[in-house]
Amino acid sequence: MVEAFAVASGKGGTGKTTSTLALGMALTDEYDVTVVDADMGMANMLFHAGLSDVETTLHDVLGGDLPVAQATYERFGMTVVPCGTSLDGFRHSDPTRLREVVAQLAADTDVLLLDSPAALDSRSAVLPVVLADRVIVVLQPTIPALSDGLKVQEYATSYGTDVAGLVFNKVHDDDAIDEITVKTEQYFDGPTLATVSDSEAAREARRAGRPLLAHAPASAPAESFRQAAARIDVRDGASGAVADRFRSAVIPDSP
Ligand SMILES: Nc1ncnc2c1ncn2[C@@H]1O[C@H](COP(=O)(O)OP(=O)(O)OP(=O)(O)O)[C@@H](O)[C@H]1O
Ligand SMILES: [Mg+2]
Repeated sequence: MVEAFAVASGKGGTGKTTSTLALGMALTDEYDVTVVDADMGMANMLFHAGLSDVETTLHDVLGGDLPVAQATYERFGMTVVPCGTSLDGFRHSDPTRLREVVAQLAADTDVLLLDSPAALDSRSAVLPVVLADRVIVVLQPTIPALSDGLKVQEYATSYGTDVAGLVFNKVHDDDAIDEITVKTEQYFDGPTLATVSDSEAAREARRAGRPLLAHAPASAPAESFRQAAARIDVRDGASGAVADRFRSAVIPDSP
């Protein structure tokens, strides 16, 4: 079985990478999980997951003939596929090869989480949302973030990608979050999976190069992410059929 999720937001800095690793770790209780840094132009999962020194990354796979197995690392109970950060690495990558990479990873995992770029402005940026079965939208409770999140939903649904749910992140005590979630849910096709408070623990985890659930498993935001993961009803697509779909996905010429 396998289901692929794009973790996306439209807006930068909402917590996509933090959420990808947190949801991934929480889902390892039940599933084989693979997380991929599909933010190929502005990758930074490697910094969140203590992988900044690794030799081979997704860039090497997309830019050459290396098998993806050489860019996978077993960390925190998950299979992690980090992406490099150099501009040269990005320039030499062929983003369309991500289809084949995702198809190969799909053969050997239950849950694939694709950490997605902030914008929807290029072929490489839209690819995770186009390939995924469903999108998890990471929002901050601000008008610009909600508006950008809606654009992601619009784009996703136009390619047949459903919305699995919303994660409200970096929520402050005075945000009137209950009111905001009720209003927001009227516009989105998925439920609120969790509201995650703005927390020093998340910033510390990033500085320490460890996912939040490894660095501060007892913290309030870690608990919220576990709650979010528990609310995702992972669908069991047949690995072969899903892989074939990824391989044959039509990538839009201009997003
Ligand atoms: N709940 C939270 N409370 C406080 N800080 C947070 C929280 N979630 C994430 N952060 C911090 O916000 C910053 C951005 O988070 P992250 O890198 O996960 O966002 P992103 O959406 O992936 O960003 P980008 O668009 O640049 O890829 C990081 O320093 C991270 O530690
Ligand atoms: Mg990110």
